[in-house]
Amino acid sequence: MRSVWGQIEMDTFRIQLKNHSDTEELGRFLGKTAGPGDIICLDGDLGAGKTTLSQAIARGLEVPENSYVTSPSFAILHEHEGRIPLYHMDFYRLQGIDEVLDLGLEEYFDLSGLTVIEWSKRAIEILPDERLSLEILRNDDESRTIIIQATDLFCKKASAIFKKFHVHHNQGTFALTQE
Ligand SMILES: Nc1ncnc2c1ncn2[C@@H]1O[C@H](COP(=O)(O)OP(=O)(O)O)[C@@H](O)[C@H]1O
Ligand SMILES: [Mg+2]
Repeated sequence: MRSVWGQIEMDTFRIQLKNHSDTEELGRFLGKTAGPGDIICLDGDLGAGKTTLSQAIARGLEVPENSYVTSPSFAILHEHEGRIPLYHMDFYRLQGIDEVLDLGLEEYFDLSGLTVIEWSKRAIEILPDERLSLEILRNDDESRTIIIQATDLFCKKASAIFKKFHVHHNQGTFALTQE
């Protein structure tokens, strides 16, 4: 399914994660392949796995194990040193868009780190168009369904992991072209 977010065309995919270790693998992959200025938005109910995925992204980004990546709910932003800096944000307790602007959080989007935002939809108006969005849906067990919205650029980068997790594009299995 294709949708247009701002000026940028986004593709929508669905991934099934069987268990915690699949989440770990996806997160590490995202961290390993992230580049300066990338933005990953994580949404989904409490307990869906946003922080768990953020921790795996941090490991993939080579944030040291002793740099504890936890939910930054109270601080809104936690910064960690990795291969490139990680700006881990959580908009759960956000009062409104003004708070993001007052805190200057937007400026982080242009820096040379990776920004990961939990509850990003609470400030959807200020998010840059060029971003990767993951919505985590919790099932009854350890499995998770992830709805991914990404630009063509990211889809290319992610083809390996997409294959591994049998990405569903629209109704059928999405066949990605070999690079
Ligand atoms: N496949 C999975 N992916 C992520 N978390 C999982 C998975 N299976 C079980 N869990 C558990 O679900 C909880 C998710 O919590 P957390 O990551 O803090 O969620 P959120 O940040 O979305 O509120 C953790 O206790 C985690 O161990
Ligand atoms: Mg959390």
